[in-house]
Amino acid sequence: MVHINVLKKVMCGLVVILIALTVCLWKETRRSYYVPFKTENDDSQIHRTSEKWNLLKSQDLVHEAAGGMGQMPKTLLSNENKVKGGISGMVEKSKKASDYMKVWDKDSSSQNLIPRLQKVRKNYLSMNKYNVTYSGKRNTVKLSPEQLLCQLRDRVNVSMIHGLDSPFNTSEWLRYLPEKSLNETVGRLGRCAVVSSAGSLKSSRLGPEIDSHDAVLRFNGAPVKGFQEDVGQKTTIRLVNSQLVTVEQQQFLRDALYNTGILIIWDPAPYHAEIHEWYRKPDYKFFEAYKLYRVRHPEQPFYILNPKMQWQLWDIIQENSLEHIQPNPPSSGTLGILIMMTLCDEVDVYEFLPSKRQTDICHYYQKFHDRACTMGAYHPLLFEKNLVKRINRGTDEDIYTHGKVTLPGFRNVHC
Ligand SMILES: *[C@@H]1O[C@H](CO)[C@@H](O)[C@H](O)[C@H]1NC(C)=O
Ligand SMILES: *[C@@H]1O[C@H](CO)[C@@H](O)[C@H](O)[C@H]1NC(C)=O
Ligand SMILES: *[C@@H]1O[C@H](CO)[C@@H](O)[C@H](O)[C@H]1NC(C)=O
Ligand SMILES: *[C@@H]1O[C@H](CO)[C@@H](O)[C@H](O)[C@H]1NC(C)=O
Repeated sequence: MVHINVLKKVMCGLVVILIALTVCLWKETRRSYYVPFKTENDDSQIHRTSEKWNLLKSQDLVHEAAGGMGQMPKTLLSNENKVKGGISGMVEKSKKASDYMKVWDKDSSSQNLIPRLQKVRKNYLSMNKYNVTYSGKRNTVKLSPEQLLCQLRDRVNVSMIHGLDSPFNTSEWLRYLPEKSLNETVGRLGRCAVVSSAGSLKSSRLGPEIDSHDAVLRFNGAPVKGFQEDVGQKTTIRLVNSQLVTVEQQQFLRDALYNTGILIIWDPAPYHAEIHEWYRKPDYKFFEAYKLYRVRHPEQPFYILNPKMQWQLWDIIQENSLEHIQPNPPSSGTLGILIMMTLCDEVDVYEFLPSKRQTDICHYYQKFHDRACTMGAYHPLLFEKNLVKRINRGTDEDIYTHGKVTLPGFRNVHC
């Protein structure tokens, strides 16, 4: 009798061990499958409890691609669990429904990138095209979301070039620049939407929700015709990059897509450049196309973004990242978000942080694939997304299902 009991126990033990091994093996397989998204481990003790991989793949945001400003943003996802467990030793959370909603990890690092994109980031760091000399701190103590919002509000001067900005203070330029300020043109806005160009917008059926906002900002050549169900049809502001306007000049001048709403163009300036230095040597020579467009469409408001803002914002992203970020301007996506935060009471951003529909397809209106569109290559997109995740006032569920982040307008930020 005794012997039989012992035997039974041994057998049971063996069965349990076998099951455990099988489970481990299975997890391991899945994990390595998702290696590119594994979270970082630059800080020692973080040992990822797996499962939190990112299922998502890349998606791009703002498509800059067309223009070629470089790359688009890409995203990493992670699950919130990890985030919460973060820092002080990964606490394994109990398995709840939320475990299955993997969203962008606000602590994503370059280790989360696939090797090709890690290399691209390093190349941009050594190239330092814009002569960035950043010697400030990198925050070791994390700012709270409120502190971050205050930094953005107080240090990023979102402004458009106007007739007093030398060397635009000539009678010639006065004819081209809009008379009214952007603020005057749009009036006071309540709820606003920023719609990325990400492939993950496809089949989202977010159109009616997007159109319910007082104002909608879109990027570059992102169409609405034929995609209304997913992206809506309202366009209040369209932010375009100088590359698009220069490289696809004929299309820009001809395509009726651009004739709706207010246009804003932006172009990267060197880190230290004053406006007149940038004016002499813009990254892309877009001034002629701008003038041509203004002559053809004098009634349509068309602004030039003051390039100072890019690096004011870049400094804040760098300060709040643990690694060196690409020394290139932030993506159109993040610039558009900041513009709307200055104009609106509240801003909903769609598919900048990828939803469950995340895909490597760069744009909802093209078939082109590239993980860089979600994770960034030229732009420090990964770090931009970390920042946006940190100041999100919406829920992870909204990110997961709608790709939606909710941010306060600066007039509702109290410091
Ligand atoms: C960066 O600095 C180098 C050396 O000072 C200079 O030759 C180059 O033109 C600068 N680049 C830009 C974009 O200002
Ligand atoms: C922001 O930019 C505008 C336009 O160039 C300028 O007049 C203003 O002084 C700037 N404000 C700050 C706080 O730097
Ligand atoms: C433009 O502004 C600069 C700097 O303030 C000034 O020196 C210049 O005379 C102005 N030009 C015109 C045409 O007013
Ligand atoms: C923008 O316009 C609103 C009214 O539409 C006004 O209250 C606000 O002071 C303006 N802000 C700036 C920076 O001009």
